Order: sequence, then C-alpha cells, then structure tokens
Amino acid sequence: MDSLNKSIENHYLKAGLYEDIINRLIKQNIALDNVKRSDISGTDEFHVRGAVVSKELANSIKINGLDVLDVGCGLGGPCRMLADEYKCQTTGIDLSNEYIRTATKLSELVNLKDKTTFIQGNATELPFEDKTFDVVWTQHVQMNIPNKKKFYSEINRVLKTDGYFLFYEILRKENGTINYPMPWASVSNHSFLFKAEEMDKYLIELGLTRELSTDQTQAGIIFFETLVAKLKEFGPPKMGLNVLMGDTTKTKLMNLLTHLKSGELELKSGVYKK
Ligand SMILES: C[S@@+](CC[C@H](N)C(=O)[O-])C[C@H]1O[C@@H](n2cnc3c(N)ncnc32)[C@H](O)[C@@H]1O
Repeated sequence: MDSLNKSIENHYLKAGLYEDIINRLIKQNIALDNVKRSDISGTDEFHVRGAVVSKELANSIKINGLDVLDVGCGLGGPCRMLADEYKCQTTGIDLSNEYIRTATKLSELVNLKDKTTFIQGNATELPFEDKTFDVVWTQHVQMNIPNKKKFYSEINRVLKTDGYFLFYEILRKENGTINYPMPWASVSNHSFLFKAEEMDKYLIELGLTRELSTDQTQAGIIFFETLVAKLKEFGPPKMGLNVLMGDTTKTKLMNLLTHLKSGELELKSGVYKK
C-alpha cells in the first residue's frame, strides 16, 4: 500500500471497532443472538443522512435481485440493506482492514453473511473481471482518491453493459479554503475534492449516460442541524457516527455543515447507465 493510502487507512482506523460495537450493544441490553440491522444502522452507514439516503438511492433504479459492488464500503451497512431488503447479492471493497474485518463480523452477527462479501482492496485497482456487476455503488469515497480518472474507469470496467452506476458524493461547489478535520480527512492533503461537472465529464467520456442527478445539500444541512442540536442536548448517541470518529466527531461534523451552508461544498446523488 502506498504512503497516501496508509495515511488514509490510519485516518479511519479505530482498533477493536467490532468489539466496541458489541460492547455498546451489550450496554443497551440487546441480546447478541438477536441483533437487528436497525440496532447498528447508526454506525454502519458512514455518510450524511445514513440509512435513509441509501434507501433513496436503492429506489432510484429497479435494484431487486441484482449483483452489486459497493466501492469503499466502510462497515458494510448499505451492502446489508441491499441484501436484506432488495435480495441483492453484494460485494464490498474497502481500503481499511479494520473496516473489512468489522463489516464481515457484523454480517455474521445479523445473519447476512451468505449475501454479503467483503474484500480489502484499493478502489483504483479493483480485483474483479471486466463486466462483473449489474450495479456499482459508491458513497462518500472519492474525496480520498486523487486519481479520479482511474477511480471511474475501474468502476466502468467492472460494470456490465446496461448496468447502473449509483453515487452519493460530497463535491466542491465554490472555490475557497476548506477547514479540516473533516469526516474523511484529518488534514487537507488527504482530501481531493472536485466538482460535479468534472465527475460528469469523466463518466460521459467513459461512455456512460447520466439518468438522474439530485441535489442533496439542503437535506444534508437539515440532517446535520438536527444532529448537532441532539448532540448538544443529549451528548453522543449510544450507536452513532461517534463510534467511528471518536472525540473529533463534533468538530468534523461542524466543519462539514459550515461548508455546506456557505456553499463551498455540496452533496449530490445520482444514476449513470452503461
Ligand atoms: C466516509 S467512508 C464511507 C463508507 C461507506 N461508503 C459508507 O457510506 O458507509 C469512506 C470510505 O472510503 C474508504 N476508502 C478511501 N480510499 C479508498 C480507496 N482508495 N479504496 C477503497 N476504499 C477507500 C475508506 O476506507 C472509508 O471506509
């Protein structure tokens, strides 16, 4: 692994993550032989608006029963949701060994290990044959990847003809200094923000067709304002993104909220067809 990816893996590293989640379930008196996806969904969907926005994305195409790859799958919450609610066969790939270990064990915990496979690897060197998947899905990952061209060409390569690429992204909207830490990067040189127009250009050049583009910024701002108010009133939740971001959760979320509100950043989701 090159030094940039090692630093990015370290940024996300939380040793003993699965064990921490188990301890939190025990403290809430949740029986370990009866854990539901909803018991862990506050922490296993590491993006703005969590499980709600993943369902919206899933509903943007007819995804039932399809073979899906989640690039930068994190703890695998979206893969489990797609397997459980849409009968998809899912594969998740992520740079982080600790996230992949946790994703695999969480799927065992909620009895979804037969429908979800998690692999440690780099999004820019996907270890799959050409045209393997009906759907490639990615949420809040490309900000860590400098070589956007390689990222999108790998996605396109492993996607079947007539397949769908679904994305949900944090993108640069206006120029201006960005304050760090952010949820995806402790420092600016681990962050490679680019604009929606640039993403669209890469994908169109690869031959994909844009079918849907949704501005998610306002929904994200409302979500964050509610979350920050709850954090102020009740403190950290028992099973939230604080499990992943620890003591810096509030600073990271406030920095992201500030830039969404002031217009340097935006949230977008959408669908491209091959
Ligand atoms: C903000 S998290 C989002 C996780 C997941 N997509 C979700 O929404 O729950 C970003 C993820 O991208 C992964 N990542 C960053 N760079 C990557 C790369 N080059 N290849 C694969 N995964 C990468 C990180 O390890 C992390 O799990």
